[in-house]
Amino acid sequence: MTHVLHRAVNKTYPVAAKSAGIRITDETGKDYIDASGGAAVSCLGHGHPDVLAAMHKQLDTLAYAHTSFFTTRVAEELADHLVAHAPPGISNVYFCGSGSEAIEACLKMARHYFVEKGELQRTKFISRRQSYHGITLGALSVGGRMKDRAPFAEMLFDAHHVSPCFEYRGRRADETAEAYGSRLAAELEAKIVELGPRNVAAFVAETVVGATLGAATAVPGYFKRVREICDRHGVLLILDEVMSGMGRTGTLHACEQEGIAPDLMAIAKGLGGGFAPIGAMLVSKHVFDAIGVGSGAFPHSQTYVGHPLACAAGLAVQTVIQRDNLLANVRKQGDYLERRLRESFGNHHHVGDIRGRGLFRGIEIVEDRASKKPFDPALKLHARIKQTAMDHGLMVYPMGGTDDGKAGDHILLAPPFIVTERDVDQIVDILGVVIDKSIAAAR
Ligand SMILES: Cc1ncc(COP(=O)(O)O)c(C=O)c1O
Repeated sequence: MTHVLHRAVNKTYPVAAKSAGIRITDETGKDYIDASGGAAVSCLGHGHPDVLAAMHKQLDTLAYAHTSFFTTRVAEELADHLVAHAPPGISNVYFCGSGSEAIEACLKMARHYFVEKGELQRTKFISRRQSYHGITLGALSVGGRMKDRAPFAEMLFDAHHVSPCFEYRGRRADETAEAYGSRLAAELEAKIVELGPRNVAAFVAETVVGATLGAATAVPGYFKRVREICDRHGVLLILDEVMSGMGRTGTLHACEQEGIAPDLMAIAKGLGGGFAPIGAMLVSKHVFDAIGVGSGAFPHSQTYVGHPLACAAGLAVQTVIQRDNLLANVRKQGDYLERRLRESFGNHHHVGDIRGRGLFRGIEIVEDRASKKPFDPALKLHARIKQTAMDHGLMVYPMGGTDDGKAGDHILLAPPFIVTERDVDQIVDILGVVIDKSIAAAR
């Protein structure tokens, strides 16, 4: 009998007891290889001694100081580090406790920016279908996973959704990747024009769509066009790199590979690597300056923003990634993972697509490769894959609804940045058994 309100109330979860490197061990002594970093969180793996030492030191020195009274050295240092390595134009950092909070902060900052500038009519937000921006009400409003939104629909603000950039299912057979990207950009511009360009505050997008589409990267040129369109209409670009950012795709920020920079960006998971709850909003200078010459404050704060222990964890994680040149390993092992996935599943009857970048990879499972027909969603194949993987001591992050929010199954892989070729081989080998067993059992 548990008194915890678990995610699924009728399910019994194994009890995680300890962890080290890329493995978590449960109370029965069973080991699980963490091939998804939980939900793309544990970028350094588990129990990294340097991060633990930095956190212990911080606790011994200063555990908490409310940000209406003080700043702290550790928050200042982490902000310095993040700005020094941020996309061009970013000048300031707002710390918070999660990805959802980072998105809420971005939405409110976008609105506040236009209030400061006297453009009070800019209240509308545009985002994309088949995207996840978090679970709080603002984040759900711009989120594009209709299943998550449905029970709370009446409580959400009125955001406007356009198509995701999802080449595997969205690009027409007679269309080049570039033409597809242009078509989607035109759709965004048409939406801005329909809403009235002077009424739109921001466009929100995941740079690489994580949990909802399984590491779906944009086609070349798409984000450049999006950036141009936002600039043309004075609309802010908010990039959600909560999952895809902080090194996961092989560069610190996923948008580096798109050749663009956002006005506001949400980061979280890999920022603290799971050692402490921490997220952040990165703010560009022109947005920050509008506050500086305006009211002088961002009217949005929470008790635990900039928590020293969380900042110490984030600073240590980012310092280790840089010191150990781990992004080079993300690129190297990411290429190797892609090669192994293609060797193992490239001709698999039920694998429709293998996609992603760096150590952020998705495998889309289909009933029929030629027609891309998904399995019947009633089979809940994604849930079976997750359970079968756990039975085999492997953590992966499958999700359903890949095609249209209802049907479709994919598996997301996001192993820690410290993986070796041997680890990758083991992950791919176990995954092969898991996919085949799960499909066989579902039929
Ligand atoms: C892209 C993206 N944005 C926002 C969030 C919300 O983050 P959190 O669960 O930390 O609130 C997530 C979580 O999975 C995410 O993947």
